Amino acid sequence: MIFATTAPLKQGVNEIETMKDQQPLGDTPREEFRKQLHELADWVADFRENIESLRVAPGEKPGAIRAQLPAQGPEEGESFEKILGDVDRLIVPGMVHWSHPMFLGYFGWTTTAPGILGEIISVPLNVNAMTWRTCPAATELETVVIDWLRQWLGLPDEFGGVVYDTASVGIMHALAAAREEAAPFTRKFGLINRDLPRFRIYTSDEAHSAAEKAAITLGIGEENVQRVETDADFRIDVDALRKTIARDVRHNFRPLAVIATVGTTSSASVDPVPEIAKICREQKMWLHIDGAYGGAFAMVPEYKWASKGRTRRFLCRSILACFTSATSSVCAACSPSCPKFCAATPSKERRITWITASSSVVDSARSKRG
Ligand SMILES: Cc1ncc(COP(=O)(O)O)c(C=O)c1O
Repeated sequence: MIFATTAPLKQGVNEIETMKDQQPLGDTPREEFRKQLHELADWVADFRENIESLRVAPGEKPGAIRAQLPAQGPEEGESFEKILGDVDRLIVPGMVHWSHPMFLGYFGWTTTAPGILGEIISVPLNVNAMTWRTCPAATELETVVIDWLRQWLGLPDEFGGVVYDTASVGIMHALAAAREEAAPFTRKFGLINRDLPRFRIYTSDEAHSAAEKAAITLGIGEENVQRVETDADFRIDVDALRKTIARDVRHNFRPLAVIATVGTTSSASVDPVPEIAKICREQKMWLHIDGAYGGAFAMVPEYKWASKGRTRRFLCRSILACFTSATSSVCAACSPSCPKFCAATPSKERRITWITASSSVVDSARSKRG
């Protein structure tokens, strides 16, 4: 969260000192906290037991919840009971309940009891896994679990995974790796005043807007994301892809990457990955598979077909899959060329800077190397 102002700070040091005198500092007394925790455990269990009796989505107009909240922050704290009462009265009815059995919108797989329990354990532990040193246990556990996921997805062992906060960020980092390979040292020197070709990225007209967001952020430019038409099953039209790439080559563009989608957001269609991979190999292009929605299904034996084209070495360069639990998306955005990408810059910082969210994984690799 960022707040900014140009106005001078009005509150003087004396006022802050007076506030300190008035407010009891410190945390909740131990016994009271234990009691609250038990109450909350019952609240969570009751909520899940009674979820069917709630509306799936609120019937109110926008602004209805806000109108019931004080416009100014409270001067004094309120009791736990009062806060929990407000949650029942204002928040629960104002939510879209993604865990409701009648919720059939978007993606319907987002809470499980083990997910909630895992979250309850992790919160008091106050995990900060930004480097190995700040939390060795989390860093090493994360590294191991990401590798389990890789194995379950049937990816070759040269793929290394990184946890991202969102799928869009995972896609952006995969394309950053593609850009670094096509224009080495971009992370060091940037894109300005270099004699670089105009890169193009290709994806279907059904694919997620994460492609454009990545292109904007990476300095490739939104216009350079070419949306290719789809067939009657909403899968990218491979002939049209070939023609679009050929046209761009004639016009001196440099085809950089194709984003194939395994499970498009709107229709769950699966692009013909092996055919796309063939084009990428011929054109020396990066193939990224966006499996944010459907990629994880490849863990299930009857959906193994969804991993076609990604298991053979160098057919696909990066892949993203989300394993959604109560709280987080674990995205394995992996690439066999990642070590190359890291090695492109000397010095030990290379391990930390190329993908910030990966620093924990990278740091643990460093610790293994001593
Ligand atoms: C196929 C696909 N790709 C990318 C995304 C972007 O995900 P996020 O909102 O986590 O950035 C989504 C989200 O719905 C998706 O379904």
